[in-house]
Amino acid sequence: MYRLLRPALFRLPPESAHDLATSALRLAATTPPGRTVLGAGVPADPRLAVDAFGIGFPSPVGLAAGFDKGGRAIHGLAALGFGHVEIGTVTAHPQPGNPRPRLFRLPADRALINRMGFNNPGAEAVAARLARTPPGPILGINLGKSRVTPLEEAAADYAASVRALAPFARYLVVNVSSPNTPGLRTLQDPAPLREILGSVQEAARAATAGTGAPPPVLLKIAPDLADADVETVAGVAAESGVAGIIAVNTTISREGLRTPAQRLETIGAGGVSGAPLALRAREVLRVLRGATGGRLPLVSVGGIDSAEEAWLRLEAGASLVQVYTALIYRGPGLVGEMLRGILARMEREGHASLAEVTGTAGA
Ligand SMILES: Cc1cc2nc3c(=O)[nH]c(=O)nc-3n(C[C@H](O)[C@H](O)[C@H](O)COP(=O)(O)O)c2cc1C
Repeated sequence: MYRLLRPALFRLPPESAHDLATSALRLAATTPPGRTVLGAGVPADPRLAVDAFGIGFPSPVGLAAGFDKGGRAIHGLAALGFGHVEIGTVTAHPQPGNPRPRLFRLPADRALINRMGFNNPGAEAVAARLARTPPGPILGINLGKSRVTPLEEAAADYAASVRALAPFARYLVVNVSSPNTPGLRTLQDPAPLREILGSVQEAARAATAGTGAPPPVLLKIAPDLADADVETVAGVAAESGVAGIIAVNTTISREGLRTPAQRLETIGAGGVSGAPLALRAREVLRVLRGATGGRLPLVSVGGIDSAEEAWLRLEAGASLVQVYTALIYRGPGLVGEMLRGILARMEREGHASLAEVTGTAGA
């Protein structure tokens, strides 16, 4: 079905195609036949369940941040089979993001380049929308720094978003790894990182006091850190009491792309996602696994486009995986296909649960 639809969608500017797909998902989820269509071929099997950072996930495959920045289509996305949906990045202040065009397809590389720049309606508006939304999938909320906030005031800016959004989040993500907000990635340095992680966790405790345990806080890191810096960041995260690490965000590297250099130059700045990211995402996962020794749950993202690639990440130490770009190239049926493939492999290899698979590579 998507094979028929894709050429039409790919004739639209990428951001228009994205907005159209989001609206379609949102609309389809409002009717029972719509939900049936979205969920066709999605297995619901208890063997796919994963326990990570105190949350029982129905499946290991989630939607990565950036697809649904404002939490507009969480029910439609859940119907596609995602075991969790990470919305955001949300910032404390509403912001329009960078001027368009800011999203580009690289079909020869099965990749995208984006410099969206955290376009989002702001933490208060997203909280108001979530308050009106019936309960749905396991919701992660990814938080970033507002562009207008100076880097030195980042901790307070993140905390303001936490105050608005913690009550709606099953987990929170501190995003210090987008390449599209000036200076953001310097917040991965140990001193600012410690301050932000402390302040976010404190704000999460305060925002949920009296209503239960605060949502666990995860950290999302960039693929462009050197391996030694990945180890340092993992150490800071562990000391700061973070519940897990999500690796990786998009890369500023243009290495190894098939897309002609001239086209890349015309596109300009932005982060690359999709197939070209797979190799580095695997490496970062391996470095994190080595640095944390399996004590900190890891979420792998970057170039995952099949059950085989997801399995590889699980074996390499990921508890969960996330997908974004492959959804654009392979279509919404990808999620069910991945889950069926994972189940088939569990059966072939005689695993009763995914806990038996995570971290077995090199063990
Ligand atoms: C258009 C677009 C927007 C994104 N926006 C965000 C974002 O707001 N916050 C974030 O943490 N990651 C964002 N990402 C990064 C993805 O969450 C993911 O880390 C990255 O794309 C690698 O996964 P993939 O290869 O499956 O796409 C974005 C990615 C794309 C393609």
